[in-house]
Amino acid sequence: MGKLLEVTDLSISFGGIKAVQNLTFHIEEGEVLALIGPNGSGKSTTVNMVSGVYIQNSGSIVFEGKRIPEKMSIAERAKIGIARTFQTPKPFSHLSVYDNIYTIALQKNSKAQAAELTDEILNLTKLYDLKDARSGKLSIEKRKWMDLARCMAVKPKLIMMDEVMAGLNPSEMEDSLELVRTINKEGITVLFIEHVMKAVVSVCTRAIVLNQGRLLCEGEPMEVLNNPEVVAAYLGGEVHADGN
Ligand SMILES: Nc1ncnc2c1ncn2[C@@H]1O[C@H](COP(=O)(O)OP(=O)(O)OP(=O)(O)O)[C@@H](O)[C@H]1O
Ligand SMILES: [Mg+2]
Repeated sequence: MGKLLEVTDLSISFGGIKAVQNLTFHIEEGEVLALIGPNGSGKSTTVNMVSGVYIQNSGSIVFEGKRIPEKMSIAERAKIGIARTFQTPKPFSHLSVYDNIYTIALQKNSKAQAAELTDEILNLTKLYDLKDARSGKLSIEKRKWMDLARCMAVKPKLIMMDEVMAGLNPSEMEDSLELVRTINKEGITVLFIEHVMKAVVSVCTRAIVLNQGRLLCEGEPMEVLNNPEVVAAYLGGEVHADGN
């Protein structure tokens, strides 16, 4: 085990808004790391910089010991193993669940390999029975699962999950947490962004907290949630350590 991702002194501003400021953290290979913090604290922006959607103003991103050049594209980053879900999933709505996954699997594989990988992922994500459904017709839960399935089709080393539990009822959430564990057991490292603290505590081994674009603290999830500074940062927000 070593450091899979090392982010050092990362900053980005939009106009006058310092969305992320001098952020330093790392992700251990194999862990499920929580990235939490109030609305607007810079969580999605961090994922956007790591995945190549935004280019940082300063600071560095190192993946598997190699610095990622600023201009490396989203697709190139995906190729070296960096995948992410979107806060709002963006599937090819007109395609079936199968084709959504297969199309992405084809990018790195022969047709036969892609078909095999797609079947494997459909089984793993328990989407097999829905493989012929048009993805635009799926429930929120299944759409989120398909988004994860599509991430898996690039055989990633890291999946950054941006609020994959949002909008789910408690039993759907349990199933989804089980899916996150399954993905992690497959050897995939996970960065888990979530407002539902019960989910964070149940699946994450470590947590880092952002507040106004800066790192507030890090530690074990329960310890971090009881930190008075974290509680204060969330005051007026929507966090409750016992639920959502
Ligand atoms: N493309 C953009 N243009 C301008 N401002 C942006 C852009 N992206 C993010 N921001 C700003 O950066 C700050 C951080 O936003 P970000 O989306 O990263 O927060 P977040 O922690 O993901 O919040 P949430 O929990 O609500 O999803 C906010 O003030 C947001 O308005
Ligand atoms: Mg966000």
